[in-house]
Amino acid sequence: MAGRIPQEFVDQLLGRVDLVEIVNARVPLRRAGREFMACCPFHAEKTPSFTVSPRKQFYHCFGCGAHGTAIGFLMAYERLEFLDAVEDLARLVGLEVPKTGSGPSNASRSLLDWLAQADRFFRQQLREHPTRQRAVDYLRQRGLTGQIAASFGIGYAPPGWGNLSRALHEAGAPIQDLIDAGLASRDEQGRPRDRFRDRITFPIRDRRGRVIAFGGRALDGDTTPKYLNSPETPVFHKGAELYGLHEARAHTRSLQRLVVVEGYMDVVALAQHDIPYAVATLGTATTPEHVERLFRTVNDLVFCFDGDRAGRAAAWRALEVALPLLRDGRQIAFLLLPEGEDPDTLVRREGRAAFERRLEQAASLADYLFAELRAQVDPNTLAGRARLAELARPLLEKLPEGHFRDLMTERLRQEAQLTYTRLRSPAGGTVNRARHNLQLTRTPLRKAIALLLYRPDLARAVVADDPALRGGEPGVKLLAELIGKLRANPDLSIAALLERYRDTREGAILERLAQWRLETPEEEFQFEQEFADIVAYLRRRSDPREHLLETLLLRGTPRALSMEEREELRSLGKPQKI
Ligand code: UTP
Ligand code: MN
Repeated sequence: MAGRIPQEFVDQLLGRVDLVEIVNARVPLRRAGREFMACCPFHAEKTPSFTVSPRKQFYHCFGCGAHGTAIGFLMAYERLEFLDAVEDLARLVGLEVPKTGSGPSNASRSLLDWLAQADRFFRQQLREHPTRQRAVDYLRQRGLTGQIAASFGIGYAPPGWGNLSRALHEAGAPIQDLIDAGLASRDEQGRPRDRFRDRITFPIRDRRGRVIAFGGRALDGDTTPKYLNSPETPVFHKGAELYGLHEARAHTRSLQRLVVVEGYMDVVALAQHDIPYAVATLGTATTPEHVERLFRTVNDLVFCFDGDRAGRAAAWRALEVALPLLRDGRQIAFLLLPEGEDPDTLVRREGRAAFERRLEQAASLADYLFAELRAQVDPNTLAGRARLAELARPLLEKLPEGHFRDLMTERLRQEAQLTYTRLRSPAGGTVNRARHNLQLTRTPLRKAIALLLYRPDLARAVVADDPALRGGEPGVKLLAELIGKLRANPDLSIAALLERYRDTREGAILERLAQWRLETPEEEFQFEQEFADIVAYLRRRSDPREHLLETLLLRGTPRALSMEEREELRSLGKPQKI
């Protein structure tokens, strides 16, 4: 993601914005020494443990561990995605985000304008067109009130080939734009032909509320296809968008959970029955982008599908896609409806309370996963249970390392009734381990990096080929890399430096180190002294024999060494992990 916007721009942006100002506008801060503090907006607390460092342009909560730069803060607080956070910050300081093929280009901007006009056109037709009554009757017969129809922007594309094209063309839309926006195609003479004709229209909005596409439902049972959707366009990617997400977020400021259903009408009917937190994929299977986007909004998802074969397949697919994204704190559940029902029919028949009861009783991921797997084996035989473990293992390995994965592994052990040793615990990645281990033990190397993150100018004290930076250990390499970057670019802010490592293994470690509370010395120069001491130590350590010799010559026997020095001696030759 970060790679799509030029690094220099992110640097420039973070150099201009002031995190203190950005946070303070949302969470009032008060000064505490060199930093600012408040009660953390990301977890409930009574005494402030949320700190913002003006110098590092970095925030950190000592209570819940939330942390990041101005970009990260907006992403977390406003629940924005990376590009949107960058755009908002750029607007704040009057910078233009460079066109990179991912943000809306000028061409996309005009498509969005025409789509907005088409949206107004369809809604107007539902109020004014001579044949509007057909559409109104249809909506009424499906149990929708005018209010709900209006809140979803439901409209009407009247019969005829050129209604919308004519109106937009008169408003100045080039025909090619109508084609590119997915609103029309060309006939043999090259004239525009409306895509949506004699259909109910559902505007599809992106997360910021801009109309990017439409779905259109036929008014009778015979017309095929029943639903016609906009094609993929420069502004509409089916695999990433969710119908109803904008509306759900606009309705409820702090959503707790979202229900993922299959159809437009399911979303609207649930809202009609006061369940305004459903979203639908757009006639596609659930993708990782969908799930990632949903988890940006809530931690709690219920996948609700029909109980038929297709529905079960869709649910399993959603499960597989969601597994790698199930960090601790996030959860998914599954609700398979009785055959022949969908959320629309069910909520209309049973009402809100009964439907919400079903949601409460939705199968947890663990229950659902093991029920599906048990159905594939004979759990009464040893072979069957071994097979169960075999089927489950690759799935559990998709889970990020953490408490939840441990629980699932434990559950598998029970399900398969295998002993601990027979069940290999899924191998874990280092990134996740680092993320979970809030307290990295303090080593001189880590301390050096933490100091550097606090005082980037310290990089001046070390040249690129300094013996301290020799050696192949990952920690030394990272330190050398940081020093290289900071020397090449002395004005780089720490926030900008950290953004360069967004979503990398090193980034996870650097973020932790940036949060270290360094003992605050009386004088600034003491930082320099301490950094110089560590560099000197690293220099010595880069030559173990020299170090040993030096120590022995100066101090005599190892017994005269301090605990710390003995520790150093012991670690000689061992690669120091960071
Ligand atoms: P369904 O066929 O389950 O329709 O399609 P539904 O939502 O119950 O619709 P109603 O109640 O008959 O109005 C579910 C979803 O699959 C996509 C649409 O997104 C639809 O909401 N779909 C379905 C299409 O894209 N095209 C179709 O022809 C049918
Ligand atoms: Mn339906």
